[in-house]
Amino acid sequence: MIDPDVNMTRRSFLGTVGALTSAMLLAPHLLSAEESCILLRPIPSSGERLPVVGMGTSRTFDVQGDAETMGQLAQVLEAFFDSGGRLIDSSPMYGSAESVVGELLGSERGKSRLFTATKVWTDGRTDGIAQMERSIQRLGVDVIDLMQIHNLRDWKTHLPVLREWKQKGRIRYIGITTSHGRDHEALAQILRTETLDFVQFSYNIEDRTAEERLLPLAADQGIAVLINRPFQRGSLFHKTRGHQLPAWSAEIDCHSWAQFFLKFIIAHPIVTCVIPATSKVKHMTDNMAAGVGRLPDADMRRRMVAHVSAL
Ligand SMILES: NC(=O)c1ccc[n+]([C@@H]2O[C@H](COP(=O)([O-])OP(=O)(O)OC[C@H]3O[C@@H](n4cnc5c(N)ncnc54)[C@H](OP(=O)(O)O)[C@@H]3O)[C@@H](O)[C@H]2O)c1
Repeated sequence: MIDPDVNMTRRSFLGTVGALTSAMLLAPHLLSAEESCILLRPIPSSGERLPVVGMGTSRTFDVQGDAETMGQLAQVLEAFFDSGGRLIDSSPMYGSAESVVGELLGSERGKSRLFTATKVWTDGRTDGIAQMERSIQRLGVDVIDLMQIHNLRDWKTHLPVLREWKQKGRIRYIGITTSHGRDHEALAQILRTETLDFVQFSYNIEDRTAEERLLPLAADQGIAVLINRPFQRGSLFHKTRGHQLPAWSAEIDCHSWAQFFLKFIIAHPIVTCVIPATSKVKHMTDNMAAGVGRLPDADMRRRMVAHVSAL
């Protein structure tokens, strides 16, 4: 069954990008998350289900906007949506990323299946509000699905504002993020004492600190979990360069190291969505395939850790 909203989005998306890349874009059928078979996980506070693989935009979408680069990124987005993707994570910290995403999505993205996640990353109530208004404009949406406090910055000031905005319907969910182990104690304290819909932190096959406290706490508190730096900013691939995947990775429908790393994360039952970033179509297609097929059980996950540690 074709989702009419998705088709509308598809047309506007192609229309906008068409001026830049008309010769480059094909017109394959855009799959909804359900049609694509990508695994969905519920947001505990609402029950709304999200595809388990989303995308990040740090560095990869912070570009100058020349036609060639925009054309490439248009294809990356197209591959994302074609694979059933929905959640795009950005931040005012990522230079032009919010504007680039907004521009590539075209003028009718409010009707799309897009799930926008961005952040407030400044000090003070007035500056925080001005920054969030700018994000809405740059992304070109009426409502931001998820507004997160970036790296806990001035969170005591921003949290009441986010609650007001949620009440008014300007944002749908509230979250908070970090990628620093040193913030974990402070973040844990916030998760214990405040009502939040989402939390975002780093977790990957090499950096598993979050298993100790943050992941169990998010489960206890009923908070959805976004995972950043799934490839440790790409450095995991340096480790596996020149190494074949172990033959047993076929048992979990894993065909690349990227899928190996992402399936390790997705298999953690508390993870809602992992947000790898890429500037390349073939990597996007590769990453999205991690959300399909079998996942490792606890024994297999231990085997995966041991295997990568020994490389
Ligand atoms: N505090 C925070 O809120 C916070 C902090 C960090 C990150 N984040 C979010 O999390 C997202 C992800 O983290 P990240 O961007 O730091 O790092 P990451 O996703 O762990 O790694 C990105 C790197 O992996 C490479 N890559 C992606 N897919 C690949 C594939 N299939 N095969 C080989 N290489 C691949 C990319 O290069 P190519 O472009 O060549 O594919 C890029 O260099 C960010 O973009 C951001 O949205 C949030």
